[in-house]
Amino acid sequence: MKLKQIAFISDIHGNSEALRVVLQNIQSRGIESIINLGDSLYGPLDPKGTFDLLQDYQVQSISGNQDRFILENIDQATDIPTLEFTKSQMNTVMTEWLRSLPFSLKLNQIYCCHASPNSDCNYLLEKLDKNVVSVKNVNELDEILKDIPQPIVFCAHSHVSKVVKTKYKTIINCGSVGLPAYDDELPIYHKMESLNPMTKYVIISLDGETFQIEQVSLSYNYEEAALLAEKNNRPDWAKWIRNGRV
Ligand SMILES: [Fe+2]
Repeated sequence: MKLKQIAFISDIHGNSEALRVVLQNIQSRGIESIINLGDSLYGPLDPKGTFDLLQDYQVQSISGNQDRFILENIDQATDIPTLEFTKSQMNTVMTEWLRSLPFSLKLNQIYCCHASPNSDCNYLLEKLDKNVVSVKNVNELDEILKDIPQPIVFCAHSHVSKVVKTKYKTIINCGSVGLPAYDDELPIYHKMESLNPMTKYVIISLDGETFQIEQVSLSYNYEEAALLAEKNNRPDWAKWIRNGRV
């Protein structure tokens, strides 16, 4: 029996340099189904090139919090330079594409969302305490997912790839294609670090009731992406892209 394989990508954040390498790698394996879990265009890099690649490879996408953030501010000027840069690189087709993206996706035994089933900006797996990022316990995760019938749940948003088994679910965070580390002030100050600059994605191979998960890390020309971030006035992004650390 032929395995059904699906590649999951997420959090590209406009890094077309990394996305191109990931899509070529997926294609070289003969995998035809690609699902993108959102936060595709936002960032000081290459939103248009990212959009074009997603179209070329017929990637099926859902919306992330940063996709929603672009749309919420599409008709008004803000004082956020990276948001204004992203908007300046977009055309009407790209805006309509963002508007068309669903919050979640269900594929037989798989449920997919950007962050968690209840919110596009609350981490599903990660728990934030002062200066410490840990993973929620299995009971807490099963409680959050109690209304999701699918046994396999794909998520993203934290940019750190993980596979977590609870009593009822297998939860996979597919990591980030384009931004391997960042820090954020909300809801409390925290750092997310994948600890290397490689671009990440996940392949699931389904064979009836059984499945195999492969977490893929690929080197790419991250210096090119970092230089572009610097050119567009985001030295912090350049550092995160080069190091995978904050
Ligand atoms: Fe996100």
